[in-house]
Amino acid sequence: MTTQHTEHTPALDVTAVDRKTVLVTGASSGIGEAVAARLAVEGHRVVAGARRMDRLQALAERTAGAAARAGGVLEPVRLDVTDRADVAGFVTGACERHGRVDVLVANAGVMPLSRLDSLLVDEWDRMIDVNVRGLLHGIAAALPVFGAQGSGHFVTVASVGAHEVVPTGAVYCATKYAAWAVTEGLRQECDPSVRVTTVSPGVVASELAGTITDPGAAEAMRTYRAHAIDPDAIAAAVSYALSQPPEVDVNEIVVRPSRQR
Ligand SMILES: NC(=O)c1ccc[n+]([C@@H]2O[C@H](COP(=O)([O-])OP(=O)(O)OC[C@H]3O[C@@H](n4cnc5c(N)ncnc54)[C@H](OP(=O)(O)O)[C@@H]3O)[C@@H](O)[C@H]2O)c1
Repeated sequence: MTTQHTEHTPALDVTAVDRKTVLVTGASSGIGEAVAARLAVEGHRVVAGARRMDRLQALAERTAGAAARAGGVLEPVRLDVTDRADVAGFVTGACERHGRVDVLVANAGVMPLSRLDSLLVDEWDRMIDVNVRGLLHGIAAALPVFGAQGSGHFVTVASVGAHEVVPTGAVYCATKYAAWAVTEGLRQECDPSVRVTTVSPGVVASELAGTITDPGAAEAMRTYRAHAIDPDAIAAAVSYALSQPPEVDVNEIVVRPSRQR
């Protein structure tokens, strides 16, 4: 199920002083799309990255009116997070166009679940490349920028799978445990002028389960995902973390459906 993000009234309308340049990876569908749309409509300058440019262009068109009224913009940029040079260009390009980067939302992810004895090794590699290396590429690109500016905010979209392992989820959960650990280590090491937030969603309506090729895992997911919540619930959590005053660092938010135990 895909939620269409059209023009809506933002819960929070930023002033020119609070307007941030926000980079979002994986913004062509699901949670990333909702985050990019909400922040643009709240008045931020959003640089939305993913591989499917047609989806990003359509999102930019749908949000253009409401974003402009709030002083915001959504700028589509082609991005493959597995390519370190691509991610570096994503960050430096935004710096050149906007003069600074205030927030990096590392959201891009894939979830081709399977039991380990299915031996879908290429899919294990893909999850490590996108979910872990993609995050590290973002940190490598943005950390020097945040250091030079004396401010910045990393937001990692992890998962409840960063806190528990389930059958068919061994490798996916491992990548999310890794994302959680990297982000927590980053928080501990960073200068206090740089804020670090992990957002851990439960089941959210998106295209994520579409990456599952293992028939057993796909069938199990249909029941598991029956109570999925709207991706804007996660976007609202990201918006909350960003809107706090500089001395307040929201470290982790877990958002899951009320019916998910
Ligand atoms: N939905 C849930 O229930 C749920 C729960 C917990 C955590 N999460 C996490 O939330 C994040 C977003 O997932 P979603 O649920 O919104 O799934 P989704 O609808 O499938 O979106 C995934 C996004 O990642 C992008 N992506 C994949 N590979 C990429 C690459 N190599 N380079 C750049 N972008 C890439 C996709 O864009 P392109 O294909 O256009 O590149 C897409 O925009 C993921 O990290 C996921 O693990 C989701």
